[in-house]
Amino acid sequence: MIDTPEYQFVKEIIPTEIEENSILNIVTRDVNTHTHGFHKYPAKFIPHIPKWAIGKYLNGNKDKNILDPFCGSGTTLVEGVLAGYNVIGVDIDPLSAMISKVKITRVDKKTLKEISVWLVKEIKTNRKGTFKPDCETIEHWFTKSTIKKLSAIRTLINQIPQKFGNGKKVKDIQDLLLICFSSIIRRVSNADNESQKTYVSHTKVKEPVEVNSLFFSQLDLFVDRATKFSSVTNSKTKNKIIHSSSAASLEKKLNGLQIDLAVTSPPYIKAIDYIYNQMVELFWIGDLFQMQTQTKQNEKKIQYIGNKQISKTEFNKYTPYNTILSIDKLDEKLKEIYDTDTKNGHKHSYITFKYFAEMEKHFAEMSKCLTTGTHYVVVVGDSNVSDIFINTADFLIDIAERNGFRITNKWGYKIKNRFMRFDRKGRGGIIEIDWVLDFERKSQLTKKYNLKKRTNLEPSPPLPSDFF
Ligand SMILES: C[S@@+](CC[C@H](N)C(=O)[O-])C[C@H]1O[C@@H](n2cnc3c(N)ncnc32)[C@H](O)[C@@H]1O
Repeated sequence: MIDTPEYQFVKEIIPTEIEENSILNIVTRDVNTHTHGFHKYPAKFIPHIPKWAIGKYLNGNKDKNILDPFCGSGTTLVEGVLAGYNVIGVDIDPLSAMISKVKITRVDKKTLKEISVWLVKEIKTNRKGTFKPDCETIEHWFTKSTIKKLSAIRTLINQIPQKFGNGKKVKDIQDLLLICFSSIIRRVSNADNESQKTYVSHTKVKEPVEVNSLFFSQLDLFVDRATKFSSVTNSKTKNKIIHSSSAASLEKKLNGLQIDLAVTSPPYIKAIDYIYNQMVELFWIGDLFQMQTQTKQNEKKIQYIGNKQISKTEFNKYTPYNTILSIDKLDEKLKEIYDTDTKNGHKHSYITFKYFAEMEKHFAEMSKCLTTGTHYVVVVGDSNVSDIFINTADFLIDIAERNGFRITNKWGYKIKNRFMRFDRKGRGGIIEIDWVLDFERKSQLTKKYNLKKRTNLEPSPPLPSDFF
């Protein structure tokens, strides 16, 4: 039987106090205001969530620092800067780090105007570029005419420092133009626009959009939004983007910075391959982060939490009987996956185990970065692995609680925008809910749990060197 939750309808503004376990249906007009809509990104959350947390916990006192340790495309950071706070974003994905940086950077309007006018004029006259993507199959992904036009634009953007100088103002605008350029790539490619996987459909043949006209309209939007963002935000707010993992030495990377609020949505189990999702964009700007070829892209995947591309050698010695997380219900789920899915159970059980083990490492790091009483708001969805329901949110509560956090509230909201999302069929069939876990840093660390091995059974699996 499908149990349909009873939704509490909310229009635009989430009430400060929310009853535990209630599920909101948030009616929103536009989630792409300000710089939020600059670039697509899988599993973005709605700006309303960080806005709610900021309003509830910082309440006007401006000299405060907000952290998003899985910042993705920077939704929390944009809301933080708009509200007048300093923001710090961390993400393992270099393209996401660059998108976030561009979305929160105040630009010099005069320089932006000057460079964008020059760029449009040059694109209209300059038909040939020297930039070549490092991809043998590029003509599978783009038509010849699209390749030629994209090459011309990227070549011109590369010439900006030479033409306008190497200063910070110019560099910020060059980055903005690179993200503007990247934001049109999927639509001008042959790949399906909607899917979170990048592939060319042979049944649903796509007519790619013409490059220059799309770039010009996107450039207008970027110039307009970046100019307005720079006018409405306070020049005194500071921001920092750290391109790194949030599951290792986070405290060191933050370098003693006091965090007053953390808001994030971590990856889901086995759900999104962020690099695969951005593959066509990476062919055109991946050289900036040494990710221009598919081989280089694949090498990076291992560092992403929730990643499902795992080689057999990594898990061949793992079993849920020799390696446990010491959360009984979760350990039972790992065994159930292992025992019931005869085809992929071994791998899927390991991926699920690894996800929670890495999230444990993350919470342990966060507890070192946050002082007593600070809130950490985590948005996450439950998952299905090998057709077995995994109540990720509840297990993350168990993990956070044994790493210095206390859950103060758990509520949910209905996911509306299915663009770039994925099917996570919960127990209730097609209903999709994201859970908002509101943690508070406790004053005393409780006993620190770690991976427990049953030593009389098999030897430990070969975990990545910095695993625990
Ligand atoms: C659900 S997305 C965040 C989306 C973001 N809230 C937004 O609105 O754009 C999760 C992010 O976690 C990042 N991630 C995965 N593994 C990571 C790790 N080990 N350290 C830091 N970030 C990681 C992914 O690159 C992705 O950007």
